[in-house]
Amino acid sequence: MKKLTLLGDITPAQFLRDYWHKKPLLIRQAIPGFKPLLKLDALAALARLNHVESRLITQVDGDWNMQHGPLTELPPRTQREWTMLVQGANLADKGADALLRQFRFIPDARLDDLMISYATDGGGVGPHFDSYDVFLLQAHGKRRWRIGAQKDLSLVEGKPLKILKNFKPQEEFLLEPGDMLYLPPHYAHDGVAEGECMTYSIGFRSPSYQELGEAFLQFMADSIDLPGRYADPDLEVAKNPAEIPRNMLAAITEEMNKVRFTEEDVTIFVGEHMSEPKHNVFFTGPAKPLTMGRFAESAAKRGVVLSLKSQMLYRGKHVFINGESFAVGRADKAVLDVLANERALPGAALAGASDDVMEALYTWYQDGWIELA
Ligand code: SIN
Ligand code: CO
Repeated sequence: MKKLTLLGDITPAQFLRDYWHKKPLLIRQAIPGFKPLLKLDALAALARLNHVESRLITQVDGDWNMQHGPLTELPPRTQREWTMLVQGANLADKGADALLRQFRFIPDARLDDLMISYATDGGGVGPHFDSYDVFLLQAHGKRRWRIGAQKDLSLVEGKPLKILKNFKPQEEFLLEPGDMLYLPPHYAHDGVAEGECMTYSIGFRSPSYQELGEAFLQFMADSIDLPGRYADPDLEVAKNPAEIPRNMLAAITEEMNKVRFTEEDVTIFVGEHMSEPKHNVFFTGPAKPLTMGRFAESAAKRGVVLSLKSQMLYRGKHVFINGESFAVGRADKAVLDVLANERALPGAALAGASDDVMEALYTWYQDGWIELA
C-alpha cells in the first residue's frame, strides 16, 4: 500500500487543531491510487462469520430494512439500493489493520475499528448522524455525500436504523477511490452509492461517562478494602421496629465515606477498560505451541508481533494488554513500550528481556495475543 498523504497539505497537528471535533474536511486523493483491500467475496465471507459484526440494509419502496449478521445470503449485485456493513475488518485482515494504524496520530485508546461497506447503486444507510468522529475513505466506485451542520437531530420513529427527520444538507461531494471525508461527531450526513461502491469508515471510540462510571464502580468493587463489620454496642430499645435507626445510618455513612480512589486506580481502570477486547473477539493460540525454550529461541531470532486483535496500552509503570494490567520495572517497561507502540518487537530487543517479560510473552503467545514474527 502506498504511503498516505492522508490529510492532504495539512499536518496531523493542524488537523487536530482546526478540524478534529470541529468541522468536516474533504481530502481529495488522501491515498492516491487506492485499491480496495478486500474484494466483495472476501467481505461477504467475513459477514458470514458468527464473531464478525455485520448488517444488511435494504430499501424497499423508500422504507428501510435491517438484518443483523451472520449474513448467509446477500441480494444479487444487480439489485439496486442495498448495502452490507462489516465492522472490525482490521481484526481479520492485515491490510485493513495497517490502514487503521495509519491513523495512529490519534492514540490507540481512541481508535476503534475499520468498517467496510459495500453498496449497490443507490444504496446507503440514509441521512443520519454518528456520535463519533469518522473518516470516510472511498475505496471503490463513487459515493455522493451530502452533509450538514444542523442542530435538529430528531429521528424518524419506528425505523430499524437512525434516520434524520429533517435532513438539511449544506454541502455535497462526490467521492472517488482514494478520496476521504472527515466528519466530526453529530454532523448530519448521507452517502449514496453511484453505481457499486465500497467505503471504509475509520471509526473512533468515546465511551460515555455513564458506561465508564458503571464499569469503574465494578472495578473498585474488586479493590476496595473496608475492614470491620457493623456493630451497635450502644443499641437502644426499638420503638418503631421497622424504622432504620439513625445511628446505624450515621455509622454506615462514615464507613462508606472511607471509599477513596486515587489517580493510580483510575489509570489502572482506564487501561484495563480501554484494552478490553470487544465481546465478539476471541483469541486462538497456536495449535501446537512451542515449548518455552523453543519459543524464546525463535522469538530472539524472528521477534514477535501483536495479534491483530490485541490492544496494548501503557501509562507510567502500568502496562495493559487485552484487559489485563501489569506493574513493571523500568527495564521491562522499556521493552514492553516498544511492543505496544510498534506492535512488534524485533528479536534483538529481546536479548535484554528479563525472565518475567519472557514468561509474560510466552503466556501471551500461548493465548494467541502475540505471534512469532
Ligand atoms: C456507509 O459506509 O455506508 C455508511 C458510513 C456512515 O455513514 O457512517
Ligand atoms: Co455515519
